[in-house]
Amino acid sequence: MSGFGWSSTTDEVLAGKDLSGRTVFITGANSGLGQETARAMASRGAHVILAGRDQAKLDESVAAIQETVPKAQLDTITIDLTSLENIRAATSRARQRFQKIDLLINNAGVMATPFLHTHDGFEMQFGTNHLGHFAMTAELMPLIERGALKRIVNLSSRGHHFAPVNFDDPHFERRAYDPWESYGHSKTANVLFSVGLEQRFAVMGIHAYAVHPGGIQTNLGRHMTPEMMEALMARVTSKDAGFAWKTIPQGAATSCWAATAEELEGKGGVYCEDCHVAEVDDESSTGGVRSYALNPSFADRLWKLSEELTGAKFPS
Ligand SMILES: NC(=O)c1ccc[n+]([C@@H]2O[C@H](COP(=O)([O-])OP(=O)(O)OC[C@H]3O[C@@H](n4cnc5c(N)ncnc54)[C@H](OP(=O)(O)O)[C@@H]3O)[C@@H](O)[C@H]2O)c1
Repeated sequence: MSGFGWSSTTDEVLAGKDLSGRTVFITGANSGLGQETARAMASRGAHVILAGRDQAKLDESVAAIQETVPKAQLDTITIDLTSLENIRAATSRARQRFQKIDLLINNAGVMATPFLHTHDGFEMQFGTNHLGHFAMTAELMPLIERGALKRIVNLSSRGHHFAPVNFDDPHFERRAYDPWESYGHSKTANVLFSVGLEQRFAVMGIHAYAVHPGGIQTNLGRHMTPEMMEALMARVTSKDAGFAWKTIPQGAATSCWAATAEELEGKGGVYCEDCHVAEVDDESSTGGVRSYALNPSFADRLWKLSEELTGAKFPS
């Protein structure tokens, strides 16, 4: 066991860690868990690249971090995960500007959006949460290969319990759209992506970890109406009577743990929650990872589908 748990914070998890000389690339770093992960890692000496789709919001995030970590080494890069063209341009700039990435934290995400599509016609949640990160990661691999730590953290969610990946109709073209089924399938994809990365790149010393951060009040709920929020809370508390919100530093702790814990070295392709590796459990509504999210054949199928849809090619 890690010695950390549900209530551990980013600063507790990273206490005593020296991240100087390490470069961390975090998507969605202008808000919520991404900003806190950036702050905590910068406070341990890391050079943090904050990625987000809006330069003004990134500048505000940099200013907020510098208030508490005046010596923070921060860079920003704009990237919009809803556009393959934008992803290719942004990652090309990243390869010119930066020498390496030690830790890649694929943190950006949207939840329970209306039925919308990305610039490339993908359903918005699957397109942003999974396909955008898939394409971006492929383009950043040359930098990750040059890093020393070589870890990739993919933010998933307990919401992956809502649904497996629907390979037959990933964009809801032939069935009614359900915002929660869509979120669930995109978050299952985040776990399967970690499994797929591990299958292919463990041999090169690159390891990938999926993370459920907990329930934290951030901007993620922006697409929910008050009725949707009420229904979600009723669903959550009926399944988990002891449900409690985490603070943002508690929520970002598992990302920091998965990115740095020595006990995880060489052991990727797992799903972490509350600063430990979760057990496979197909019944629990209060924790654990569904077996469909760790299934190697589903991971392979998702990999092929994602390559076909995005045209992205990982180095072989
Ligand atoms: N909060 C929770 O309870 C919870 C629970 C389980 C899992 N998670 C996961 O944790 C991660 C972080 O969420 P959070 O709670 O910190 O939410 P948040 O505060 O809303 O942060 C999400 C970030 O993703 C960015 N983003 C959204 N769409 C993007 C796009 N097309 N291109 C680039 N960036 C984009 C947002 O940028 P803008 O500000 O520009 O929109 C924002 O910076 C998500 O993957 C989420 O699914 C959160």
